[in-house]
Amino acid sequence: MDISTLKTELVSLIESAEDLPALEQARVSVLGKKGRITELMKTLGGMDPEARRSAGQVINTARDEITALIDRQERSLKKQALESRLAAERVDVTLPARPDPIGHIHPISRTVEELVEIFAAMGFCVAEGPDIDDDWHNFTALNFPPGHPAREMHDTFYLPDDPGETGERARKLLRTHTSTVQIRHMVDHPPPIRIIVPGRVYRSDHDMTHTPMFHQIEGLVVGEDIHFGHLKDCLTRFLEAFFRVRDLPVRFRPSFFPFTEPSAEMDIGCSREGGRLAIGAGADWLEILGCGMVHPNVLRNCGIDPERFSGFAFGVGIDRLAMLKYGIPDLRTFFESDLRWLRHYGFAPSERDSVVLGA
Ligand code: PHE
Repeated sequence: MDISTLKTELVSLIESAEDLPALEQARVSVLGKKGRITELMKTLGGMDPEARRSAGQVINTARDEITALIDRQERSLKKQALESRLAAERVDVTLPARPDPIGHIHPISRTVEELVEIFAAMGFCVAEGPDIDDDWHNFTALNFPPGHPAREMHDTFYLPDDPGETGERARKLLRTHTSTVQIRHMVDHPPPIRIIVPGRVYRSDHDMTHTPMFHQIEGLVVGEDIHFGHLKDCLTRFLEAFFRVRDLPVRFRPSFFPFTEPSAEMDIGCSREGGRLAIGAGADWLEILGCGMVHPNVLRNCGIDPERFSGFAFGVGIDRLAMLKYGIPDLRTFFESDLRWLRHYGFAPSERDSVVLGA
């Protein structure tokens, strides 16, 4: 075949390749081991020197031209591919933000964050203690002597005795309240003290409003001249900020805890009209927390002089606060890890509630 006819044929073969794989196929059929040009080169061997030289030149030129054409074609196809990808993957910056696909903040975590923020604004620090504690921290040091009937309200789960300890400190248990951290903190820190203690606590209970594990937040303030007025002001401001109600009606009823004297239950005003709970309005009361002035025996057990220092303490169920604020009816569902429940009651990481009561 005439070389220029062959060249025209190959040029149109290469130019008609629509994408990179097609171009590669064309390249192999022309320049590959059995390609048209390669086959042509092989015929040179059978020619006499004179004919070989001139034919060789013609074929080489044709091969160089075809190679250059393939390179050009390749660059242009690559550019085309990039351009169509850019067009297809264009980001529309005018689209509204999509909901966060990462997950949700559990209502308990969210409530703890809110509580910490509210108390931090009042000058409190966060303290923590172990879930596995001992009889001394959970009971005796808190003025529940062995055999005291108040221990019965706090039936819990016991662990094998700690062989490294003796007496009540050897009796290991899952703490029944965060009040253990009152003791742990006071033993290590001299007054003034202003702490809150969020954490898990355990009791052998299980029904719609009780789970064997639940959450409490403890508060403890110790200093000179601390009196019941400080307790009332602090707790009232806390509940107003948490439930976002101004002038929240509150009531303190006498109660008993071995580690506080006097002790009180704090109620907040609410309405239950039409089966709907509304906090801050109406003629009903809702019990919300236990509190009192730290018992002198407790201060003494921690090496603090009750003649010089006084204090107040309180304990609140975090789960209960979350149920009330976010309208969650069954406590058990908090710990079932049902994704549908979490999507419904959980919070987006960006959702924040301000602790400051607006005007
Ligand atoms: N620890 C008590 C309870 O769990 C609550 C409480 C804490 C009461 C601090 C008074 C002071 O029932």
